[in-house]
Amino acid sequence: MTRSIRPLVAGNWKMNGLKADLGIAAAVAQGYGAGLKAAVDLAICPPATLLFTASAALIGSRIATGGQDCSVQPSGAFTGEISAAMLADAGATFCIVGHSERRTLHGETDATVKAKAVAARKALLVPIVCVGETREEREAGEALSVVRRQLEGSVPEGLDGASLVIAYEPVWAIGTGLTPTAADVAEMHASIRADLGRILGEAAAAGVRLLYGGSVKPSNAAELMNVPHVDGALVGGASLKAEDFLAIAQACA
Ligand code: PGA
Repeated sequence: MTRSIRPLVAGNWKMNGLKADLGIAAAVAQGYGAGLKAAVDLAICPPATLLFTASAALIGSRIATGGQDCSVQPSGAFTGEISAAMLADAGATFCIVGHSERRTLHGETDATVKAKAVAARKALLVPIVCVGETREEREAGEALSVVRRQLEGSVPEGLDGASLVIAYEPVWAIGTGLTPTAADVAEMHASIRADLGRILGEAAAAGVRLLYGGSVKPSNAAELMNVPHVDGALVGGASLKAEDFLAIAQACA
């Protein structure tokens, strides 16, 4: 953790969740007691279809909501797309951009991710910009340089800790049960902080929350969250169980 930074634990539900599953959000709100509230911010990023209802249900809980992606366009003839303003209108305050599933399955480039982050900011959403290397890139010793290139290409200038969150998610750790060693996470997060310093300026970079994501579970959360420059978690699978999500939040607190 970074002492001066209030940690954030964000749940990425991905393409999971029907109305009946909103009980998960309600249970998280129920378990987000005074102790946790004092120590850690929570956000839930449900599928877009549930965003309005989830946001309304979470009013008063101090749990934020977010979209999982947004269009680079503000409005118009883009069938099937969802604009950042629509997400904000539905109650979101965050928007994940550049998740590796979008980069891989939808061919999103760094330039696309940057345009999405800019679109999110225009709608006053805080983009959670995802970066991370593949297994091949790590084995080739290229993890730090790959992530540096992604940051340089995906992070808009002029942002700071109030307007930007970064999630480091090694592609090979997502949904696999595998995680990097604490030493590898420490090396990467220190490198990300330094890279952001060059992109945003030292002072702005110092306040940006750097989340770790990829197979975060209650059993490994404490170790991962103890790593310097890890300021919270982006949680996929385990965010679909209120108990697990809260246990991860507790590890941050
Ligand atoms: P996981 O997903 O926690 O299920 O590995 C993380 C993510 O994709 O954000």
